[in-house]
Amino acid sequence: MATIIDGKAISAAERNNIKEETAAFVAQNGFAPGLAVIIVGENPASQVYVRNKHKACGEVGFLSRVYELPEATTQDQLNALIDELNADDAIHGILCQLPLPKHLCESEVIARISPKKDVDAFHVQNVGRIMLGDYDFLPCTPAGVMVLLRETGVEIAGKECVVLGRSNIVGKPMAMLLLQANGTVTICHSRTQNLAEVTRRADILVVAIGKAKFITGDMVKPGAVVIDVGMDRDENGKLCGDVDFASVEPIASAITPVPGGVGPMTITMLLRNTLTAARRAASDSN
Ligand code: GUN
Repeated sequence: MATIIDGKAISAAERNNIKEETAAFVAQNGFAPGLAVIIVGENPASQVYVRNKHKACGEVGFLSRVYELPEATTQDQLNALIDELNADDAIHGILCQLPLPKHLCESEVIARISPKKDVDAFHVQNVGRIMLGDYDFLPCTPAGVMVLLRETGVEIAGKECVVLGRSNIVGKPMAMLLLQANGTVTICHSRTQNLAEVTRRADILVVAIGKAKFITGDMVKPGAVVIDVGMDRDENGKLCGDVDFASVEPIASAITPVPGGVGPMTITMLLRNTLTAARRAASDSN
């Protein structure tokens, strides 16, 4: 029987810390951390995410502004809003919800957000700083995974860590963080040969490939810690992860459920990044 890693509880405790730190920050500086979230168009999933971010900001005492732009917004209009927010002293974090409508360029948007306000940590400057191990912001999902591992008491140093997935947002930075924590890290992907042989070596297996129930019990080493970043739908349309929980849970020593594992941590880490950005801004102005 594996320990079920309770992302909801760990997230709630971390948000409580952020709330207390925010109250102290406001008392000291006379202003609250401010997050601006931009959403273009009417993608229903994005609308839910943005609503949740706005609500979470309110709960910890942040200023939160949501900019809902119409589908027909031009690149110039979006760029102009980002420039305005880059120059706005009340705003410490800027997040443009992805995906954007097809006619808009995501890489241009990411490059235009000031690296100091880039609470997604998507800007090339912040990505580079993660490589060097000298960063203010970490991308929210890998940062959340590291908190889950820490709070579960998982030792990373010297362990075989396998990351399945190589996206810029999850797989690559995840591998880098495990490496910085002195893990021995392997990244696998859709072209990896003998995948099960590699995943079976993992003491810590992080799965982020976006394929429902892809990792089955026979692909997992007994006693492994299994972190499921997936958010998929099963054959009945029910929310599930990249890991087949039913066959992996009896083999693993600890495992994240979906929902209730990694998911709740991502907004929490966005709040953490926004507080960090506000602290930087406060110390820059002193
Ligand atoms: N869309 C889905 N996840 C994310 C995220 O973490 N950041 C942004 N900007 N857009 C997203």
